Amino acid sequence: MNCKMATAQHSRAILIASIYILLSASFSRNIVSCSTVVTLGANVICNNIPGLVTKQRSICNTRPDAMVSIGQGAEQALAECEHQFKNMRWNCSLRSSNVSSLQLGTNLRVGSREAGFALSIRSAGISHGITQACSSGTLQGCGCDKEKQEGEWSEGGWQWGGCSADIEYGNEFARLFVDAEESKRTPRSLMNLHNNRAGRKLLRKLVEIECKCLGPSGSCAVKSCWTKLPIFRRVGETLMKRYYRAKKVQPVQLLKHRQSLKLYRTRRNSEDAKPGRADLVFLDDSPNYCDYNPTVGSLGTHNRQCNRSSAGADGCQRLCCGRGYNTHEYTRTWQCDCKFHWCCHVTCKECQEKTEVYNCK
Ligand SMILES: *[C@@H]1O[C@H](CO)[C@@H](O)[C@H](O)[C@H]1NC(C)=O
Ligand SMILES: *[C@@H]1O[C@H](CO)[C@@H](O)[C@H](O)[C@H]1NC(C)=O
Ligand SMILES: *[C@@H]1O[C@H](CO)[C@@H](O)[C@H](O)[C@H]1NC(C)=O
Repeated sequence: MNCKMATAQHSRAILIASIYILLSASFSRNIVSCSTVVTLGANVICNNIPGLVTKQRSICNTRPDAMVSIGQGAEQALAECEHQFKNMRWNCSLRSSNVSSLQLGTNLRVGSREAGFALSIRSAGISHGITQACSSGTLQGCGCDKEKQEGEWSEGGWQWGGCSADIEYGNEFARLFVDAEESKRTPRSLMNLHNNRAGRKLLRKLVEIECKCLGPSGSCAVKSCWTKLPIFRRVGETLMKRYYRAKKVQPVQLLKHRQSLKLYRTRRNSEDAKPGRADLVFLDDSPNYCDYNPTVGSLGTHNRQCNRSSAGADGCQRLCCGRGYNTHEYTRTWQCDCKFHWCCHVTCKECQEKTEVYNCK
């Protein structure tokens, strides 16, 4: 983009431009010209990001730098959600609906386990984005974890060194941002808050410790270690396991307390009535996602590619909801058995393979 060159001295304008471009990408490919963006202030941009609640707009206005990391974190969460669900009827796709990645999960009106997954991965993604930006020194007000100062001894007998990821800062920032959406104490709000927290909690749990040996001739007599964010794929994989074990809950009104609405497990024994803090929770059974129905967040599976020999979720029987599938045959041609002749040319044979592709009716 040549606008970067032209406005290199206006770093705030570039920041704002990047928020705009990042967040407009998923619902409108019509990017306004750079000069327009530069003349717009942060509040104009923040007011035009769809779906933000008032508190989120004020975070956007006061911290446009953090807003960029929040947007990148949400995009990362969406990409991972799409990856984890690529073979399922609900495939996490927001692309064809008019929803930005910042609304991942909140766009699903049914309080389903899919909504639970989407909310928790968004929350973890935003925290990941913020924490990463802190470590790389691009955000004001944060940096490396101050609790793990260079040279200080840990309980494990090593010295902290390098830049430890400040996950507490990232989690707190993400909490302020995503939990701002829940101002009322409704069952759905409690579900959202629970899953938001489960996502951040998981990210904290997956933080790794990485070490470098500093002893004489590379021995590990002295070690220097730092905490490091997990790659986001691990967050996706772990949340996927929790998705399968998600707990169904229902609202219960307790008489004793003022804030007395709580979520309890529906099939409960007296001692484990409350879902665990790490569990994903949901209120409603999932729709079947077979047909297009935007009000339940279902794009339907018409025309989705399925796998005829799979007994899993991507198998034609399940993915197509019993409607059957169309078969397309095509021939793939490529160069093969290539030989190098001295000197200097290569001869190849042409190989062909017939491939069949199946698409749901
Ligand atoms: C998408 O949302 C924007 C802003 O809410 C609206 O102006 C636009 O018409 C919508 N587009 C579609 C295709 O629904
Ligand atoms: C997800 O499903 C929708 C609706 O069938 C489809 O348009 C989209 O291409 C799918 N996305 C992926 C990544 O398969
Ligand atoms: C289809 O499913 C089978 C069985 O699970 C698997 O071995 C095969 O690789 C899948 N094919 C494609 C194209 O994904």
